[in-house]
Amino acid sequence: MNSWTVSDSPTQPPPSTEEPVTRTHVKFVLALEPLLTVLLIVVDLVKVLLVGLPRLAGEIFSTFVPRAKKDVRGQLVLITGGGNGLGRAVAHLFAARGSRLVLVDIDLAAAERVCEELKVEHGASAWAYRVDVSRYDECRQLAERIERDGCGPVDILINNAGLILFGFINDCSVERATAVMDVNLKSHVWMTKVFLDGMLERKRGHIVGVSSMSGMYAFPWGVIYSATKFAVCGFMASLSEQLRIQGHSQYVKTTCVNPYYVATRKDVVEFLQKPRFPPLTVEQAGREIVAGILREDDVVTVPKLFGVFTRFMLLFPVSVQQVVRDYLIREYELNNNLHT
Ligand SMILES: NC(=O)c1ccc[n+]([C@@H]2O[C@H](COP(=O)([O-])OP(=O)(O)OC[C@H]3O[C@@H](n4cnc5c(N)ncnc54)[C@H](O)[C@@H]3O)[C@@H](O)[C@H]2O)c1
Repeated sequence: MNSWTVSDSPTQPPPSTEEPVTRTHVKFVLALEPLLTVLLIVVDLVKVLLVGLPRLAGEIFSTFVPRAKKDVRGQLVLITGGGNGLGRAVAHLFAARGSRLVLVDIDLAAAERVCEELKVEHGASAWAYRVDVSRYDECRQLAERIERDGCGPVDILINNAGLILFGFINDCSVERATAVMDVNLKSHVWMTKVFLDGMLERKRGHIVGVSSMSGMYAFPWGVIYSATKFAVCGFMASLSEQLRIQGHSQYVKTTCVNPYYVATRKDVVEFLQKPRFPPLTVEQAGREIVAGILREDDVVTVPKLFGVFTRFMLLFPVSVQQVVRDYLIREYELNNNLHT
């Protein structure tokens, strides 16, 4: 035997019995690690469920027993696009509840007309301002003008102004697309930026964003419009979370409003060719919107049932949603080919 291979050489330490045991131990712990991670996730999940389930029960309860409506007597409600359609209807409903109104519109004559109606029909205090709400500088100046005119601080800001645009993306001019994006999204950001600080200082306020049901599901006949309405839903959800994590959500509320078609305009009414579900009347939509704001709901879908159905549909894969949507469109909305 070669002397190099002699194992009992006096210079070599005796073989350790401890080392293989430690290695086995390490291997065992390593093998357990994924299991421990899964276990920790399960424990976290149980904790979240324990906290979340009572809240879910509360939400379900409030669906059947709605929360009490807040008193808005004497409060100042600012409505953008208050000169026509939904803005006008909502203004009337707040005035009937004793609120004071600031109506902001690019069409000053329309806003003034509605102010006059509010004064005559409800004896309400109401002010009209011409503002292009897609422009930050004009929104900023509006705040100064309201203060100068002594209207008082804004309690409820309703970002309602919007441009409705039917059309595939290739059919829209760059100018029109820009205007739609500016009015439908930027106005929400600018008006909120201008009026939120005052609400936080006074520890009182409510910001409402009017989006659309086409901000909940894809609407190919108005690609740019739908995109802006998705953006409004995202803006309102993020704003609401910002206020919550900053500890302001107890006194500054947010509500995102998603209406189905409302018969405010000829192009909306004409778009529906097989209206099994006809467009809502302006009064109907206005009533549901105001009720949701007064209950301080986070999201108001009008009508409510359509919101439940849409959320349910969105749980399924896109291909399944397409089957449901094609059926609904063909049977209930449009006569024409789905792709034209
Ligand atoms: N009508 C519907 O079917 C429907 C459905 C879902 C959501 N919505 C949304 O509801 C809101 C109101 O819609 P509507 O049907 O009452 O519209 P509308 O056209 O009847 O009224 C919109 C008002 O906004 C004003 N406006 C437009 N651009 C402005 C600007 N740059 N600055 C200030 N004011 C401006 C207009 O002058 C008008 O008075 C919109 O945001 C719309 O997208 C409408």
